[in-house]
Amino acid sequence: MLSQTMKEALNKQVLMEAQSSQAYLAMGSWAEIQPGLKGVTQFFFRHSDEERMHMLKLIHYINERGGFAVVPKLEQPTLTFVSLKKAFEILFEHEVKVSESINNLVDIALSEKDYATHNFLQWYVNEQIEEERLARECNDKLELIGEDKSGLYLFDRDIMTMDSE
Ligand code: FEO
Repeated sequence: MLSQTMKEALNKQVLMEAQSSQAYLAMGSWAEIQPGLKGVTQFFFRHSDEERMHMLKLIHYINERGGFAVVPKLEQPTLTFVSLKKAFEILFEHEVKVSESINNLVDIALSEKDYATHNFLQWYVNEQIEEERLARECNDKLELIGEDKSGLYLFDRDIMTMDSE
């Protein structure tokens, strides 16, 4: 059984993953109407789907352990971006916040000696290492590319094969 504190903390994480999914969905919709960002568009939409999967995993876990996963109300995410670089900066900052939130959940699990939840959370700990790495890599590349159109062309092509799992 999950403690009340843990139920609430996991439900907050459900909200955070849902917000991530919405935020990247909005980035995808924005990218889709920009010229030459086909690869980036698919990347954002795929990333949004992954966040939904992260949310679903939490929902199932909460419900399986005697809690009730609350499907949250969502705020409208940022819809437009001054540049692709800005969108990726926001994505990176967001992922850092998600990592902090996961670490906080791990702290609660350890303090409550809830080893089942601690074990469950390890998947998220590993996932966040990968998500932060990928976001940092995209930011570094865009920093190098600057205003170079051929660089951006290659970035858009290459992002489709960048590992995001
Ligand atoms: Fe599910 Fe990107 O955090």
